[in-house]
This record gives sequence, structure tokens and C-alpha cells, in this order.
Amino acid sequence: MSLVHEIDYGTPASKSEKLVSLTIDGMSVTVPEGTSIMRAAMELGNQIPKLCATDMLESFGSCRLCLIEIEGRNGTPASCTTPVAEGIVVKTQTERLKQIRKGVMELYISDHPLDCLTCSANGDCELQDMAGVVGLRDVRYGYEGENHTKLGKDESNPYFTYEQSKCIVCNRCVRACEEVQGTFALTISGRGFGSRVSPGMDEPFLTSECVSCGACVQACPTATLNEKAMYDIGTPEHSVVTTCAYCGVGCTFKAEMRGDELVRMVPYKDGKANRGHSCVKGRFAYGYAAHQDRILKPMIRSSIHEPWKEVTYEEAIAYAASEFKRIQEKYGKRAVGGITSSRCTNEETYLVQKLIRGGFGNNNVDTCARVCHSPTGYGLSQTYGTSAGTQDFDSVEETDVVLIIGANPTDGHPVFGSRLKKRLREGAKLIVVDPRRTDIVRSPHIEASYHLPLKPGTNVAIVTALAHVVVTEGLVNEQFVRERCDWDEFQDWAAFVADERHSPEAVEKYTGVDPALVRGAARLYATGGNGSIYYGLGVTEHSQGSTTVMAIANLAMATGNVGRNGVGVNPLRGQNNVQGSCDMGSFPHELPGYRHVSDDATRSTFEALWGVPLDDEPGLRIPNMFDAAVDGTFKGLYVQGEDILQSDPDTKHVSAGLAGLECLIVQDLFLNETANYAHIFLPGCSFLEKDGTFTNAERRIQRIRKVMAPKNGYADWEVTQLLANALGFPMNYTHPSQIMDEIAALTPTFTGVNYAKLDELGSVQWPCNDEAPEGTPIMHIGGFVRGKGKFVLTEYVPTDEKTGPRFPLLLTTGRILSQYNVGAQTRRTANVAWHPEDVLEIHAHDAENRGIRDGDFVKLDSRAGSTSLKAVISDRVAPGVVYTTFHHPVTQANVVTTDYSDWATNCPEYKVTAVQVSPSNGPTQWQEDYENLSRTSRRIAAEAAE
Ligand code: SF4
Ligand code: SF4
Ligand code: SF4
Ligand code: FES
Repeated sequence: MSLVHEIDYGTPASKSEKLVSLTIDGMSVTVPEGTSIMRAAMELGNQIPKLCATDMLESFGSCRLCLIEIEGRNGTPASCTTPVAEGIVVKTQTERLKQIRKGVMELYISDHPLDCLTCSANGDCELQDMAGVVGLRDVRYGYEGENHTKLGKDESNPYFTYEQSKCIVCNRCVRACEEVQGTFALTISGRGFGSRVSPGMDEPFLTSECVSCGACVQACPTATLNEKAMYDIGTPEHSVVTTCAYCGVGCTFKAEMRGDELVRMVPYKDGKANRGHSCVKGRFAYGYAAHQDRILKPMIRSSIHEPWKEVTYEEAIAYAASEFKRIQEKYGKRAVGGITSSRCTNEETYLVQKLIRGGFGNNNVDTCARVCHSPTGYGLSQTYGTSAGTQDFDSVEETDVVLIIGANPTDGHPVFGSRLKKRLREGAKLIVVDPRRTDIVRSPHIEASYHLPLKPGTNVAIVTALAHVVVTEGLVNEQFVRERCDWDEFQDWAAFVADERHSPEAVEKYTGVDPALVRGAARLYATGGNGSIYYGLGVTEHSQGSTTVMAIANLAMATGNVGRNGVGVNPLRGQNNVQGSCDMGSFPHELPGYRHVSDDATRSTFEALWGVPLDDEPGLRIPNMFDAAVDGTFKGLYVQGEDILQSDPDTKHVSAGLAGLECLIVQDLFLNETANYAHIFLPGCSFLEKDGTFTNAERRIQRIRKVMAPKNGYADWEVTQLLANALGFPMNYTHPSQIMDEIAALTPTFTGVNYAKLDELGSVQWPCNDEAPEGTPIMHIGGFVRGKGKFVLTEYVPTDEKTGPRFPLLLTTGRILSQYNVGAQTRRTANVAWHPEDVLEIHAHDAENRGIRDGDFVKLDSRAGSTSLKAVISDRVAPGVVYTTFHHPVTQANVVTTDYSDWATNCPEYKVTAVQVSPSNGPTQWQEDYENLSRTSRRIAAEAAE
């Protein structure tokens, strides 16, 4: 293995279709108009010396190293800023150019510390390379004059260092922060000789606006901005291309290694979701995989009040199998079930549902997607015919108007957020529908045209009101609707939304949104060119989550915004493989590929290959499993890679359900909160230690590749296989590629997927089959998958969760950039530097009424429970609304969320909880008890390991 080197062409590719031919150093080359001469030379393999240019950034022309000569033109223009022209003759290497380049390098080196041998970038430094490339042998100016070589280091960022003395002021970092990340955290302060890169107002990186995405570190050609791991470990010697295991963007990285030690994660330019960018989590927050809390040996105990006992895999698996057999003999075949993980691979998820359906003999399988995007699956399959988003991320580059509903892309899906911000800076318009003023509403060089700050729980009313304006103001794309949709259903829908009760003026009493804003937003979306909708959990996690998804689908159809680049309906998926876990048959009513278990033909295909009869009755959903466990009819549960106690709503009910189980198997990296109730703990395996595939929010199937051996001995799929075999349901895979081959054989939308193709193409978006052998970037081109697009009537039904005298405020929840879900991974990394605890955002008006000051501890009560946390006074939320994140178990926001859920899918209503906030002295009794239980459980585990 060696390091994967991606060619740096110096400047971005031109998108022009017009071609231009020229001659460079006697060789002719033809490239798109607008290409730089530097890039055209690279196409010929001719690398012109450069320092300030890189193909991730627009050309800048500051270092003067890339000069060239053009026949018939005076001077020596910079090749990075000079575009090609028809017929020109270019020379990149002449005596004059050599002398100029040497002179430039002499100036740089005369003001640079000469500590190459001990520098963290030794061997990985473009300045060093260029000194060699231009043949620099001495520096005529000496090193004694005024220079910057004594400037200090900023080590405030936990992951990278800013060593100012090594800065050549090439501006690449500043441009990376602006152009790639879109944060504008860096400037060049001072002038001339005094010019220096400066975060914010000359602050340390940690306290500046920097969001630690690392784009500047990647862009820096010297050791000025460098990963701390490069200081500690040294330069990497081989790399493996793999996929981030955090969010549904699915960024591709080169995991750069020295031996079996991970030195750094470098975003892969060829990654089709991220195009060479990343966020702080994917690039830096991988340390959890080697964290001391990780459990590496299986453990068992006969009751949750007893200490854990460390055992071999054979003992643990035998115990698990005998317990599940005992339970099924005593309570019946349907008394056990399992939960698949949206963090695990497609192959692992597929295997768990196969084990449950084939080995347990029932359909009691569900997934954490139940609690996030199950309404997306339902809503989009009803209206369009597929349970997935319509576009690829590249599509955002063609959009003219972006409507974001209930999503916070700069925090939740940061790399997509950066790509979106770039398009907005280019001139696309933005509409945000969100109770909270998220960062995207107003950030450097971006201002939403409309922000509709609706009351939590009123999405259906607002989206239907947008449709009302479209229909009543004659903004429907009738040609699209007539050609592509069911016309009769459209007419019924148009009459429905046109009713006065759906007008922006009529719904204001629910939504609290100024009708003029709704009208303006609807007109902009319908008439502003390519209109795209991106939405998140702020849409799905409601009692009417499925209805909102269908209302969104209606709106896109009515305006003709489906089936081409730049438009569409795009769910921003939360976890890395939430799309994949749904595709793989993790829902109790659906076999892989979203086919109902009651369908005889589908079932018989699986029965033939799996060699067992399958149940034709849908199994239990997660909340029904807890209900049944409380009732005493559900007794055994296998949970892979999920902390349901922390992530599911109404924690009291979940813990009551878990306490009612006779055998709970938890398979995870850490002794998570759910494991407090477990009888068997099977160690999980991190994404760095196994092979497989993830499917991101674009339906893109991407490889993850093993970069080191599993610390716990087995990949997760191997442990599932051991359990299946012990239960008498044989599985004999030797590599996940065989599992993918089986998936492809059984799933019509996956028939063209195999590891060889993924290795060759990098990734494919399903459907990938005979009709689309290289996958399907944009869905519903020319026609909807279901045939005619279906308009569904979306009556607004207010949630039963109502404010009143006891609980007068509405709580809504979300994520923050540096943390991820319940924090099991990110809390075990240096990311805690940015978000050490969950806090409650409250408007000054509500805080003042309650005698609460900024930073005070407050008690948060709902009818489901209480928790306490610190208050932050914020004008991001409107009066009457409070907001928190759910990343820290000590806060447990889900203690207060209720058991209300989406009418179609049971997706919990996390986003609307009536609460009261009052001053408090510290943690509630419940939190103290909970902390004690967790602490005790960890101590027992530590003792077992000794
Ligand atoms: S790490 Fe990212 S946000 Fe921070 S300064 Fe660098 S590019 Fe900007
Ligand atoms: S910190 Fe690096 S990228 Fe930024 S100006 Fe200095 S040398 Fe260039
Ligand atoms: S945006 Fe998502 S997939 Fe990309 S690096 Fe960040 S967490 Fe990973
Ligand atoms: S690389 Fe062209 S001027 Fe710096």
C-alpha cells in the first residue's frame, strides 16, 4: 500500500463546453475555454512550479512562481491566472523564467525558519518541494535581515497548530475558509512586510469564528497550519480511501496511516458527496475509536443488578442463543426482536434483519430511522414512488431558489451546508422555514430572502399555505402537472389548498408567521427558476411528519420542480447510513428494497435463498416493542449500534420497557446508557476496522474500507453471523462483498451493485440495475417511479401537545456542529472543547418573566419528565419557544419529550413539547440517580476487565 496522491491541477476545472487548442512546450493540448494555462499544462503532465494555486480554490496570482512566456506577448504572466486562448504558444521553462523563479524562492526562504529536518511537514511541504523544483542552491540575501522567523505558535485548536513563523502569506488558507467552507474566519491583517494571517480580530483559533473544518489546514502549502498528529506521529506512509461514519452527507476521506496508526483524515477530492471538503467531525473527531472507554471483550450477567463478567465470544454467543431460545420456547416466537443501526454498514444491517426474520422467525425488526426519517420513506413513496430524496448534492450548484424547511445544514450537514452557501453567494435565493434563526438565515455574504419563524408543530399549515398562494395566484406549472401527475387528484388538491382556511392570513393564528412573508416566499419559490427543497428532522419528527413530507412533495410537483438538475425534494439524512438501513429492510413491514412482507412473491424469493419460511405479518415497531415489554409479552431484544435509552423519546417508558426484558443484547463500542439494562454486551467495531458500504442522503452507496484490524477481534457482521449460527440459522460469509452480492440478487434497485463496480466508479446512487448500470443521480426524470405523481390532501391537524398554564412554552430540539446525536463518539474526542454541555436557549422576554439570567441553571419540566441544564438567553428563538440539543446523557433532553408520534410511522414528536422553565439549583434527583447508575455500571465493567 502507498499514499493515494490526487493530482493538483492548480486551478478548478472549467465547465465550458467550448474547446480551445494551444501549444505548451511544443505539445498541443485541447481544453475547455476558461481553463488556466497552468491547468492545461497539467493535463499534459507538465507541472508548472506554484505556491499560491491549488485546484480547490479560484486562482489568486500572488506568489509569482508560476510565470510563463507566451509567444508574441510581452512579459511573463502567471499561468494560474491566465486563461488559455486559441492557438497560443506557451513556454513554461526558459532561462529567464528559471532565474525569476529562483529569485522568488530566494525571497521566501530568506524569511523562513531553516528547520526542515525537524519540521512537522518535512517531506510533506510544497515550499520544500518548490525549492527543489526551481533548483535553489543558495540564498543571496542571507538570513540575518528583518524577518518573521521568531513569531510564535497558536496551539489553541485541539487538532491543529498555527505556526506563524512558517507562513508565506500565500492566502490559500483565507481563500479556503471563504470559498470552500464559507465561514470567513480568516483575514490577512497588516500590510506589506507586516501582513499576517489572522483568525477573527487577531484571536486564538479556538475562540474565533473558526469552525475547525480544517480546509485551511489542507490548503496550507507549508507547516504553518498543520495537524497536531503530524507533530506527534510523523508523516503518513500509506492511505486507504473510506467514508465518514458521522452524518448522512457521506464524505469520502483518505485515511492516512503510519503502520496501523491513523495520522490524519484528508478529504478526498474525488469524493462525489464532499468534493474534497469535510467538517470537524469527519476530519478530526475519530479519536473515539481508540478511546479507553471502548469495551473490547464480551461480557455477560444474569441480572442487571449483578456485576458484568468478561467472557469469550463463544461463551457470550452461546449464552445469548440459549436465552433467546428459552424465551421463544416459553413466551412464543414473537417475544424477541432486534434493532438495526443506521451507523452500521448496509451489509451489517441486512444481516441483522435477516437474522431476525430468518433466525428468530418473526418480523420484529426496526431501526433508529423510526425516530428520524421514517416519515420521509412513507411520504415520498406515497407521492413519488420511492422512499428517498430525488437529487445528488451536485444538483445544488444548479439551483436558483432554495427552500429549507426544518433543517440546519451548517450544523447538521456541514459539508452540504458549505456547498449550499457557495451557491447562495453566487446569487441563488434562500427561504428558511424554521422556528429558530439558524446560522444559514444570516451569515457572511448570505441573507435569506425570507425567514418564516413558525411555531413548532405548524409545518403542515405553513406548507399548505405556500401551496395556497401558488394555486390561487396562478403560479402552478400546469404543463408539468398535466404531463407528469394524476390530473384528477391535482384538481382535488388544488381545490383543497385554494380554500380560504389554508390562506397565509387564515393560518397565521396557528403559525404565528406574517402572511406577507408566506406570500413572498411562495412567489419566490414558484417563479425564481430552479426551486429545490431541503428538509430535515424539523419536518419529520412531528405528529404530522408524514403529512408535511407529502405537502412538500405536492408543492414541488405543482411548481414543476422535480425530475431535473437544480430542483427536487431532498431529505437531509441524520446518520451516516440511515438511508441504507431503511433500504436494507430494517422496518418491520418491509423486506429489503421496501417490499411488504405480506407480498407472497417477494417473500418466496427470500425464502428460496435463505432456506427458511418467513412470517407474513408485520412485526413490532420500536415503541410497540417497549409497550409489549412493559406488558410482559416481549422479552428478548438484540440492539446493534444504538443507544435507544438516550435516543428514543419518553425515557421513563423506554427504561420501563428495557427493565422488563429477560435478555437484552447490546452490541456497541461503549457501555452506552442502554447497556445499563443489558444482560449480554458484545463489543462493537468502529468504521476504521471493517469493510462494507454506507448509503448517504443522495442514495449514494460508498465503500468503507478497513484501515486497521478490529480492536475487538470481529467486525459487527461477523458477530451477527456467530449469533445466527448459534441459533441454528447458518451464515457463512467470509467477506461483506458476498453479503452485498446477496442483497443485489434479492433487491431490484441494487442488482447492478457490487464491490468491483464501487471500486471502479467510487460510488453509485441507487437504483443501479440494468436500466441504470452506473446508478441514478437524479430521480423521476421524465416520469415518477410510481407512474403519475400523486397529490395528497394535507389537512392541518394541530398536535395534541398543547401549551397551557402548566406548560406554557414550546420546546424544540436540534444538533450542534461539533457534536453528533447522543454524543457517544464526539464526547470522547476533543470536540468537547466546543460544546461541553447541552444548554437551553430562551428568549430574553421569557427569561425575564421567570427571573432567569444568562448562565443560570434552570429546570425544564414537561408532562413526561424533568431535567435541568443551563440557560442561554438568545434572540434566535422567538418568545414562547425554547431550544436545546440532546448530545449529553447527563441532560437527557428526551426525558421531557413525550410519547406523541407521527400518525403514519410512529416517528416521535421530538420537535414539539410543551414545557415550563423555572430557576433551579442544580441537577434533578432523576439526573443524580441516573449518573450514579451509569457510574456504577462503568465501574463494574472496569472491574470485570481487570
Ligand atoms: S478550520 Fe475551517 S473555519 Fe477554521 S479557519 Fe480554517 S477553513 Fe476557516
Ligand atoms: S497559513 Fe499557510 S495557507 Fe495561510 S497564508 Fe500562511 S502559508 Fe499560506
Ligand atoms: S459533513 Fe458529515 S459526512 Fe462529512 S465530514 Fe462532516 S460529519 Fe462526516
Ligand atoms: S501559483 Fe500562480 S501566482 Fe502563485
